[in-house]
Amino acid sequence: MNPKVGYGIIGAGMIARFHAEALRQLERAELVAVFDSRPEAARKIAEDFPCRVYTDLDAFFAAPDVQAVTIATPSGTHGELAIAAARAGKHILCEKPLEITVEKVDAILRACEENKVLLAPVFQTRFDPGVQRIKAAVDAGRLGKIVLASLQMHWFREPSYYTGSAWRGTWAMDGGGALMNQAIHLVDILLYLNGDAKEIYAAAGALTHRIEVEDTLCAAVKFRNGSLGTIEVSTSCPPGYPRKLELLGSKGNIAMEASRITRWDFPEELPGDEEIRRGISAVDAAGGSSPANIDVSGHVRQLGNLTDAILDGTKLFLDGREGRRAVEFICGAYDSVRTGRPHQF
Ligand SMILES: NC(=O)c1ccc[n+]([C@@H]2O[C@H](COP(=O)([O-])OP(=O)(O)OC[C@H]3O[C@@H](n4cnc5c(N)ncnc54)[C@H](O)[C@@H]3O)[C@@H](O)[C@H]2O)c1
Repeated sequence: MNPKVGYGIIGAGMIARFHAEALRQLERAELVAVFDSRPEAARKIAEDFPCRVYTDLDAFFAAPDVQAVTIATPSGTHGELAIAAARAGKHILCEKPLEITVEKVDAILRACEENKVLLAPVFQTRFDPGVQRIKAAVDAGRLGKIVLASLQMHWFREPSYYTGSAWRGTWAMDGGGALMNQAIHLVDILLYLNGDAKEIYAAAGALTHRIEVEDTLCAAVKFRNGSLGTIEVSTSCPPGYPRKLELLGSKGNIAMEASRITRWDFPEELPGDEEIRRGISAVDAAGGSSPANIDVSGHVRQLGNLTDAILDGTKLFLDGREGRRAVEFICGAYDSVRTGRPHQF
């Protein structure tokens, strides 16, 4: 048996290059094929990451050495492609958001379950060592009762980011704006650390960009664990700053900027606390001013985890159900914006 998993990429745009590079770095994975509805885009990737180029999706799915696919197309196409991939028996790594509505996410989950294929929704920042340290502290009860759980994303996207793309900034293909496209990673981490929300009350607008969806959104949240929080996200804040997450509890407080822990305050010190305070990695704007300004290491970790699950039968670190949570939260925020009333989950 081939000790490597053969991967095919669907959609050969910006993020596909991160998938191809991550696969190049993994010993037990290999990029064998690429498909894009624009053949020239597929050919361009194959020039830099040698693999077969397909111009016919059925032929791509029929290739026996494509054991798994990565879906790197506009968000509103993920469902159709993921369901077709599942029916073809391919394991799937699907970019965020899994889909743009909860119903469409559920259809993907059903297709993967029925066809017994693995589904890894991309949330590469969950693999950050900083996030994992915070998760361990929360699970160990070090924060006591969490009272405030909030996130801030003051980012910037040039007008050309939206005008230069047929799908960005549209309800049909982006499914939303600053919250659905950019802040979804932080939403995922917030729910991962603090649990799901009970209620959200949001206001939003397109304040500086000519787009259908929001470039700015604010919300107040009640979480199931009783804590409260605020969500403040925008792509209208030049030059763009590191995104922030804060958890404040009765026994301790944590804050994170980009992937660095910036506050680690506990009255009862444990060994290792000082080292954590010195910082895990340097703060940079991590996507704050440009979508390509991200690190490939998260995709390497997540594709490595899926590859191990396929070859060794190990559990996925992050499965399809986990990918549903942030989409449900974000769609709830949009429902509140539309109705002008709090949305109950
Ligand atoms: N994980 C992250 O940090 C991250 C960062 C950026 C983008 N993304 C996600 O990745 C996805 C793609 O974003 P992008 O910035 O690479 O977009 P992009 O526009 O650069 O690339 C999309 C590609 O998909 C192709 N395509 C469109 N419809 C297709 C179809 N039906 N079948 C095959 N190919 C098709 C396009 O021709 C294009 O080459 C989005 O869902 C986005 O949210 C994730």
